[in-house]
Amino acid sequence: MEQSRGLRLILLPLPFQGHINPMLELGNLLHSKGFSITIVHTKFNSLNPSSHPHFTFHSIPVDLSESEASTKDAGILISIINAKCVEPFRECLATLLSDAEDPVACLISDSHLHFTRSVAESFELPRILLRTGGAASLAVFAAFPLLKEKGYLPIQDSRLEEPVTELSPFKVKDLPRMDTGDPESFYQLITNMANEPKASSGLIFNTFEDLEQHALATLRQDSYPNIPIFPIGPFHKCDSAASSSSTGLLTEDQSCISWLNTQAPKSVVYVSFGSLAAVKEAQFLEIAWGLANSNHPFLWVVRPGLVHGSEPLPDGFLESLNGRGHIVKWAPQKQVLAHPAVGAFWTHNGWNSTLESVCEGVPMICLPCFSDQMANARYVSHVWKVGVQIEHGIERAEIERTINLLMVEKEGEEIRDRALKLMEKANLCLKEGGSSYQSLDGLVKHILSIKS
Ligand code: UDX
Repeated sequence: MEQSRGLRLILLPLPFQGHINPMLELGNLLHSKGFSITIVHTKFNSLNPSSHPHFTFHSIPVDLSESEASTKDAGILISIINAKCVEPFRECLATLLSDAEDPVACLISDSHLHFTRSVAESFELPRILLRTGGAASLAVFAAFPLLKEKGYLPIQDSRLEEPVTELSPFKVKDLPRMDTGDPESFYQLITNMANEPKASSGLIFNTFEDLEQHALATLRQDSYPNIPIFPIGPFHKCDSAASSSSTGLLTEDQSCISWLNTQAPKSVVYVSFGSLAAVKEAQFLEIAWGLANSNHPFLWVVRPGLVHGSEPLPDGFLESLNGRGHIVKWAPQKQVLAHPAVGAFWTHNGWNSTLESVCEGVPMICLPCFSDQMANARYVSHVWKVGVQIEHGIERAEIERTINLLMVEKEGEEIRDRALKLMEKANLCLKEGGSSYQSLDGLVKHILSIKS
């Protein structure tokens, strides 16, 4: 701690909700180890410095046109951000590094921001990457050349149910895909991201050994044998401030908590598909009727942009449920998942949501939409066995059946028990001597050893 005091770390998140949250949480963790923290962020999805008064914030002038900022193709947006950030970030770094009173130990960049490699090299500044997704999904990304060679990619609809024998337990349908944009540019983006750690000074994961032991071993042995890997998650559980401090780009609706307070223990299905996923109007209606017909109380996040087109809830839909349903635009998700009334989480399996659910022992209903989410969902349903997937399309009877399987049936009881056991493992890894606790100490030592 003494050695880190007075040393600054520069953190650069990718400006998406699912990437900002873990980067800020990582900042809190490293701040607790004595480092000073500077967050560099873009004007696009700009951050609110008042949420973290103990950090220094620098905004870089990266202007996106309206059509760029509103594209539904996250892959294209990531490429644009990589191209447009280079010069503003270089200028920002030059200013930050010129302050001799405040030495910078290293840069910690989101692993999607590959442009940071050349910029950091030009200043001879060590660069560590944060992978905000899981280790298993990165192992899938890293296998892209093999998957292409073996003919699994591009994905063919006729092969979706086939196992990927080289990558157990995945099926072809679990391989990453985007519904928008050109598959080749998506594969290129992912391949760049998976190659990036090879040119870094280390790789940090928001995961823990007991959760992804096999995938972490594969990455250490096969993909990145020369790169130190630090699984130090779950970040938000190491950092007690994280569950209460909001880093949301949308305002959290606290009515969720007062509504949950009126519900019976473990009775509510919490439904949220994260910050980017979208559904068609017809699917939205099936979800609404599936929830209504299940007869369980539900708390549903209907974010602006969740539905392509309008949100066609029938007139009087909520009223007809007599208080059994509550809909908000954005929830204080970590508080919701920790609430005793929540019995299940219907999720898109973004990595943060998946991990947050694991940490509270909440079993999942999985509806992965794109990219790493399918791999995360396969782990939830078939490796940890703490959830079930909606396998046969977004259809009201299937939704009703799946909710009831998890909430009332014998199979659901077993799943719920396993979820509680996995939660205990998440808690243990953070305690003194636990794997993430030790790995964080290792990361601090590593930063001190590589500092420029
Ligand atoms: C994106 C990708 O979709 C995902 O696959 C990748 O792993 C990370 O980036 P996103 O869609 O934002 O993620 O989902 P997720 O990773 O689950 O992150 C969402 C974050 O927003 C979580 O930390 C969650 O707690 C928070 N959230 C979500 C809220 O605070 N309130 C809400 O109402 C919904």
